[in-house]
Amino acid sequence: MDQTIGDIRMHWRESGSGATGAAVLFVHGFPFHGGLWDEQLERLPERWWWIAPDLRGFGRSDAGMAGGPVTMDRLADDLVGLLDRLGIERATICGLSLGGYVAFALWRRHAHRVRSLVLCDTRPGADTEAGRRARVELALRIQREGASAAADAMLPGLISETTRRTRPEVEARLRSIIESNPPDGLVRALEAMADRPDSTELLPTITVPTLVVVGEADAVTPVAEAEAMAERVPDALLRVIPGAGHVSSIENPEAFGRELVQFLEATAG
Ligand code: MLT
Repeated sequence: MDQTIGDIRMHWRESGSGATGAAVLFVHGFPFHGGLWDEQLERLPERWWWIAPDLRGFGRSDAGMAGGPVTMDRLADDLVGLLDRLGIERATICGLSLGGYVAFALWRRHAHRVRSLVLCDTRPGADTEAGRRARVELALRIQREGASAAADAMLPGLISETTRRTRPEVEARLRSIIESNPPDGLVRALEAMADRPDSTELLPTITVPTLVVVGEADAVTPVAEAEAMAERVPDALLRVIPGAGHVSSIENPEAFGRELVQFLEATAG
């Protein structure tokens, strides 16, 4: 689906029961796009309305930019624009990594639109100075070499050894998602991530049901970090996805989907 949302044409995938089911908004990580959630959209029960947009500048969504730089706030506002367009008052926000950073911004700015949160393979903290320098270096490489530079630099650290050994097709698929992104969108998202605020103090303010999900071999946002995050969110549940690295939704889609559905069933109201 494609529609004009604010200053951009936004693309999203969806499945499930449409306007009659409670909505779940999937927010992809970097440097992917909404296709990251295809395995979930294909397998999850019809009872919910599953929506997976391409964030601004990723996949088939425009970068826009008439109104200033990409920020987490802007990405969150885009998603609220999509919820408005679809007539959805409140949704479960399921964000993976960068998607989690956007979920924090959504909670900060539009808490009344959030029914529940699923924070996957993400962290509340801001970048360190070294992290910001690495973003600048990667942005320069992407400008020189294109989106494949993001795949070369990041993919080795994103998936688990189990995935690499037993499901090589996952790595190939992630590479093809990354390489289909416009380089300029990736560069702007790197800038947005480098500038994002620390959301640690936000965690105790989260009053909606929250599930924290992490791949057992996530090397980017390790289990210990997910545990620390879950401890700060009142009554949050933590689930560890076996065999998965940082991209748990696609590395072990069965376990990920099972945990998500159990959480949604337990918190339906
Ligand atoms: C992601 O998966 O979205 C990235 O690892 C996030 C980041 O680079 O901070």
